[in-house]
Amino acid sequence: MLNKGDNRPIGVFDSGVGGLTVMRALGERLPNERIVYVGDTARAPYGGLSAETLLSYSRDIVRFLLDKDVKVVVLACGTTSSTAYDALCAEYPDLPLVDVIRPGVAAVKRIEGWRDLRLGFIATVATVKKGLFVKLLRGEHPDCMIESRACPLFAPMAERGLFYSLVTKWAAEAYLSDWRGKIDALVLGCTHYPLLAGVLGEVLPSVKFLDLADETAKATAIRLDADGLLRSSSDLPAHEYYVSGPPEAFDAIAEKIQKKPCKAKKIVFK
Ligand code: DGL
Repeated sequence: MLNKGDNRPIGVFDSGVGGLTVMRALGERLPNERIVYVGDTARAPYGGLSAETLLSYSRDIVRFLLDKDVKVVVLACGTTSSTAYDALCAEYPDLPLVDVIRPGVAAVKRIEGWRDLRLGFIATVATVKKGLFVKLLRGEHPDCMIESRACPLFAPMAERGLFYSLVTKWAAEAYLSDWRGKIDALVLGCTHYPLLAGVLGEVLPSVKFLDLADETAKATAIRLDADGLLRSSSDLPAHEYYVSGPPEAFDAIAEKIQKKPCKAKKIVFK
């Protein structure tokens, strides 16, 4: 039978630029798909907010994305994936939603011998407090050796383009140097953190780093395929970006990440 496909865009959101790490992986895995990206930069960082506020902000964004006629929403944010995803799934039973935490667990399980590894998990305060990643991993392997830790300065630093700087190195040393030699792999449980990979690699040499992006892109591809929602059109997709804070500030950082110009539009959440 001819698959007509679905040419509507994929909706992706985060508090700011972190979700662009997921968008990059989506672009690699699904180069044909059009993406509408929302960065809630006026209300970022999300990491210190309550679960209630995070759900309310996520609802605002999902409503906006539905107005843009998206066919799936990717929560490209560990914080809302941990705190708001289940409620959103219940509220939007007909909308495919993909989070980053469950795929992150799948990424760990892909490592050979993962059950014997000493794992670290770093994320925002809200994500670590919720403990969903550790709970899901312990559901797979109750004795798994995993410690988690919040690194609240990392996302704001990434948001300001401080990917590789003295101040980022200082923060990474302060947060993580005591794990040197004590962990084998580190899960970057916030989508901003891969942007700091250079510094993290210097602070924790010979540690394997795992991010959430690729496995999330894979989960999205599987979901779209299963639901017959893959795009059939093969013209080059033109992505759209919307931010609640100043677009120029976002554009400057997005260009650093994507290595091409970005022109975000402003949205106002009431
Ligand atoms: N990138 C988000 C996450 O993965 C949010 C970080 C923040 O805004 O604090 O958790």
